[in-house]
Amino acid sequence: MKRVGIYCFSATGNTLRVCKLIKSELEALGAQVDMVSVEEGYSSQKSPLDYDAFAVAYPVHGFNAPANVVEYVKNFPEGNKGYYIIKSSGEPAPANRDSSHQIVGILRKKGYEMMDEFHYVMPYNMIFRHSQDMVDMMWKRAQDAAPFDAKEIFEGGKGEIKQKLRHKFISRLFTIEHGGMRLIGRGFKVDMEKCIKCGKCVKNCPMHNISFDGEKFTFGKSCLGCVRCSFNCPVNAIKISVLEGWKVNGAYKIGNGMEYDESKVCKYCNKSYKRYFTEEGGNSIEKQR
Ligand SMILES: Cc1cc2nc3c(=O)[nH]c(=O)nc-3n(C[C@H](O)[C@H](O)[C@H](O)COP(=O)(O)O)c2cc1C
Repeated sequence: MKRVGIYCFSATGNTLRVCKLIKSELEALGAQVDMVSVEEGYSSQKSPLDYDAFAVAYPVHGFNAPANVVEYVKNFPEGNKGYYIIKSSGEPAPANRDSSHQIVGILRKKGYEMMDEFHYVMPYNMIFRHSQDMVDMMWKRAQDAAPFDAKEIFEGGKGEIKQKLRHKFISRLFTIEHGGMRLIGRGFKVDMEKCIKCGKCVKNCPMHNISFDGEKFTFGKSCLGCVRCSFNCPVNAIKISVLEGWKVNGAYKIGNGMEYDESKVCKYCNKSYKRYFTEEGGNSIEKQR
């Protein structure tokens, strides 16, 4: 039986949902799939060398992979095998295309080859809240794409990845996001008038960066800007510093797929979303399958 490892980081659930879709498609093909949580830290017992195929999954942050995922893959042993990238982002902007460049560079030096990248557009957890129609169309698109992507992983297929110079430039420029978020995260604050002291933010921060001494919250130096804290705060009490105007609070209802309806596509990035929804076959915005 083919063993597949999916190393996944998901701050607010989108990437995890996509990975679970792909996992169930892989299982339908007869694979045994291990979901490995990046935030639990690397363990040699979950080495990529133990799998017949593996994938690294993450949400796009500032046209890049989050810092914790980049750090995580540095722990992989040297190996000589192919792997896949699964990523989710809030918009299908071409600037997201080369977001894996750090991971790919690190793993290339260790001997691994990136075989293909699967890009899923999922509801934004930052900038603005997508409408329920958009959410439902995205989910339908993800459900349609997952069987193609799972089959490719299962069969060890290789995709043709085309990166344009300007997209490479944008991703590299935005690697400052990692340091920027550590700085901005220090400025996160809790409105104590609203706070109900449920402790969710402290308990769930993937970087253990939030502490509470009974009176006040402290945000440390390792924030990823992943917004799990503010997104899931039940009383919307967390202010995310200069990003406050872009804050999205509260989980989406994901589960009902909806057929594509052009009139329901949001105005923002309208053309890119339309292209994403209407492309034939799998899900990649980089290429048609
Ligand atoms: C700090 C931050 C930066 C983001 N940057 C981008 C971006 O550059 N491009 C994009 O399309 N979406 C961006 N997003 C949106 C997320 O990639 C998107 O909502 C993703 O599906 C979240 O996945 P998760 O729920 O697994 O964390 C960003 C979100 C955050 C919190």
